[in-house]
Amino acid sequence: VAAPTAPFSSDRWSSRTQRVVQRFSVAFEYPVVFTWDAFDPDNSALVQTLADGDAERRHRVLPILDAGLEQAWPELRPRLVSYLERHATRLTLAGEPLAIPGGEHTKNDPGLLATLHGHFQAHRMDRHSFVLVVGGGCVLDTVGYAAATCHRGLRLVRMPSTVLGQNDSGIGVKNGVNAFATKNFLGTFAPPYAVVNDLRLLERLPLRERLSGLAEAVKVALIRDADFFAWLESHAAALVGFEPPAVATMIRRCAELHLRHIATSGDPFEQGSARPLDFGHWAAHKLETLTGHELRHGEAVAIGLVLDSRYSADVGLLPAADVDRIASLVARLGLPRWHPALEAVDGNGRRRVLEGLAEFREHLGGDLTVSLLREIGRSVEVHEMDPARIEKAILWMHEHLAAR
Ligand SMILES: NC(=O)c1ccc[n+]([C@@H]2O[C@H](COP(=O)([O-])OP(=O)(O)OC[C@H]3O[C@@H](n4cnc5c(N)ncnc54)[C@H](O)[C@@H]3O)[C@@H](O)[C@H]2O)c1
Ligand SMILES: [Zn+2]
Repeated sequence: VAAPTAPFSSDRWSSRTQRVVQRFSVAFEYPVVFTWDAFDPDNSALVQTLADGDAERRHRVLPILDAGLEQAWPELRPRLVSYLERHATRLTLAGEPLAIPGGEHTKNDPGLLATLHGHFQAHRMDRHSFVLVVGGGCVLDTVGYAAATCHRGLRLVRMPSTVLGQNDSGIGVKNGVNAFATKNFLGTFAPPYAVVNDLRLLERLPLRERLSGLAEAVKVALIRDADFFAWLESHAAALVGFEPPAVATMIRRCAELHLRHIATSGDPFEQGSARPLDFGHWAAHKLETLTGHELRHGEAVAIGLVLDSRYSADVGLLPAADVDRIASLVARLGLPRWHPALEAVDGNGRRRVLEGLAEFREHLGGDLTVSLLREIGRSVEVHEMDPARIEKAILWMHEHLAAR
């Protein structure tokens, strides 16, 4: 009898071994909605996003808020509650909104996961109930992980409230928390039910957080889109001034580039070793840890991308003039290009930032794969980096960029 082909097949390896291969694929789809003032009772974006999938039911919604956001915006909670009341035929509050602290310490706190799981249990959350999380990347990552591991996955709707959340971390398929002193050691790939990017949520975001999120735009422009890089150069002042049209365009373009990569790279769940969207991140993640998270993620990325750009030039890939262009844009966006943590050494006099390379490889698994730049807008993967040349690039940064 001929073996059936997909979706299910079997073959015979020998007289004693047969094999059955299980094979199926699941198509994922989720909307990323861009809007202004989502909790305005007359804005139907949120109710449509939550309820249109099944118009017959009243959907249970359990909101989790970033405490830092709530502090900046005390009206947020009552506005969210009245929004749900206004749409009570289609939505119902499953429990009072819970606020949890923002920032990296949240991802370091195992107790918080237990709190969230307990909260979901207490409010009888099932696989059709919605967790509506409004907050920065750290709150989204933590709540995303808790939701993904509850009943093997609650429906998660993310409303990112930082620039970085809206243009990068909040729109993708990953979540994670830190454990055993390792960043994102625990985490899952879990596409959200939907993402609602509300530009108004950014209104009271502190300047430092606003600027930090710009680093991911520079990063994705460098590896994917030279026109976007030129656009960032010509709109640097408008972005630093946080002019809404420029910010909206930057977020939209950056989000689209990230989404397109996830959809078309052929590896949305990162089973291979390559991760081009993590350009500059091997050093960035290490700098975040070395500074005890005093450096914001985006700030560390800014330094990491300057380092890898300079390294790319040193190995003959990128024209030196482009390094100047990149370093200059980073500075004009108000982002750092140097931090003394780059000089930290271990007991053997070896720069500690180099540990970031090994940790990066361990996190991805397989061979080391790092993206470098061939030109602005185009990256290339390499499988080794020469520590002596990294050292040289750091010395160059110290000499040319540290003091400015
Ligand atoms: N899952 C992913 O794919 C992915 C991708 C990139 C980055 N990340 C992670 O995202 C995290 C960084 O996220 P972030 O940069 O958004 O920072 P964050 O979550 O630390 O938020 C920054 C601070 O701003 C406060 N805040 C949030 N929104 C606010 C608002 N609208 N107004 C006032 N204050 C507000 C928070 O309470 C916090 O103190 C890192 O842990 C990083 O690893 C995840
Ligand atoms: Zn990043």
